[in-house]
Amino acid sequence: MSFDLVFLGGTGDLTWRKLMPSLFQAWRHGKLPANGRILAVARDDKDDASYRQWLHERLQEADSAKRPSEDEFLRFSALVHYLRMDLSQAADYIRLKAWLDTRSADTTVIYLATSPHLFPSICQQLGACGLNHDRVRVVLEKPLGHDLASAQEINQAVRAVFSERQALRIDHYLGKPSVQNLMALRFGNVLFEPLWRRESIANIQITLAENMGVGTRGDFYNRTGALRDMIQNHALQLLTMVAMEPPSSADADAIRDEKLKVLRSLKPFDPASVSRDVVRGQYRAGNMAGQAVKGYLEEDKVPSDSHTETFVALRCEVQNWRWAGVPFYLRTGKRMADRHADIVVNFKPTPHPIFPGAQNANKLVIKLQPEDGLQLHLLAAKGTVSSDGTGALQEMLSPVSLDLDFDKAFPTERVGAYERMLLDALAGRLNLFVRSDEQEQAWRWVEPILESWRHDHNGLRPYAAGTWGPPAASALVARDGFAWPEET
Ligand code: BG6
Repeated sequence: MSFDLVFLGGTGDLTWRKLMPSLFQAWRHGKLPANGRILAVARDDKDDASYRQWLHERLQEADSAKRPSEDEFLRFSALVHYLRMDLSQAADYIRLKAWLDTRSADTTVIYLATSPHLFPSICQQLGACGLNHDRVRVVLEKPLGHDLASAQEINQAVRAVFSERQALRIDHYLGKPSVQNLMALRFGNVLFEPLWRRESIANIQITLAENMGVGTRGDFYNRTGALRDMIQNHALQLLTMVAMEPPSSADADAIRDEKLKVLRSLKPFDPASVSRDVVRGQYRAGNMAGQAVKGYLEEDKVPSDSHTETFVALRCEVQNWRWAGVPFYLRTGKRMADRHADIVVNFKPTPHPIFPGAQNANKLVIKLQPEDGLQLHLLAAKGTVSSDGTGALQEMLSPVSLDLDFDKAFPTERVGAYERMLLDALAGRLNLFVRSDEQEQAWRWVEPILESWRHDHNGLRPYAAGTWGPPAASALVARDGFAWPEET
């Protein structure tokens, strides 16, 4: 299969930090189809040679394991080309088309790694010059809109030019290996399915915690906030993967139909439930690994009176037969105690306790990062105690866990999230891309929260950098008799 892969925004952060290193990894792993061309497009005055030189310098910043050797870079960069373009000029799209038309690739993927406000005009221009034929696909990076109306506007503009199957909305969390494993665990095994329901599960907790602050992205982040940046997309997508019904096949639409049903079943928020069930916070100065760090309001390009949330924890419910009454807790934040992401499925206690002092312990932890694996917590007999004064011995139970570390189980086959998504985009595998109706439904669900916050700035709670967020987040879970994993 021959392919042309075009990055609009070819000198932007996303391209050199994520896309090019991932593509290089795909090439290094021998997964990139042969006969490909990679075209970076930007306004800078560069040619193939100077772009390759620039990219070479940028890739030196990658993790050492992902850094190309001189020889590797020479061979990989032979695929990389550069075209100078002003994305507002129709004539420049004609030059792009002419470049692509120098051969007829089986697949052309155009990755819009640009600011999303340009998506409608870019799509319109691509259509106008005929770059929307059925061998073309476009990849759209988040954020896709900042509310339902703006997301619908982008989707309409995209739909006017490309079919749904040609428009790939990326959510890189779906490309994380553990998310694939969640599908495999649920639908490739019989073990968990009978337990995967309200009768056995007490609650589900999804944590996406980052220890970084907003860094150089203060202006973007301040317009966005944690709810739009992480909950509307990544956290909700993970929730759909946990809560969906078994799809009838592994076909993209069979899966996406089931995910959409979950989003439609989420209990809608109203102002009362927003103030009861949603906690938002903003980090203050604190300590991270012994280093003093700034508070959010002191970060670059953040106004000192900002009300933007850098932390959200919320409680929600999926209103259907499988999940009625089971709380799902989602939380995310910047400058939290640790960088880690996981999904914790807490099972119900045994119906009748026969072991003295045994606390319920069954939980399944799906670890997304930093390591990637599965942990099943069980109780096992540790020894015996005499508990009734007669000297009779009773079993004493202690928690143990079965650990599956995917990096160890499949050491040579691990594929990073962006690498996976790029290879899927080239192959036209749509399973891991978000359909427009899913994305709009996710916006519909978060809108009442955004709306309530617009009118009320008082609910924003401070938390010290390097902690797990404001105490109200613990209270949210404690109210139902549960605790976050680090509190148990
Ligand atoms: C992005 C957000 O979508 O995801 C960032 O815009 C966030 O703010 C990032 O840092 C987290 O991704 P990961 O894969 O590093 O957890």
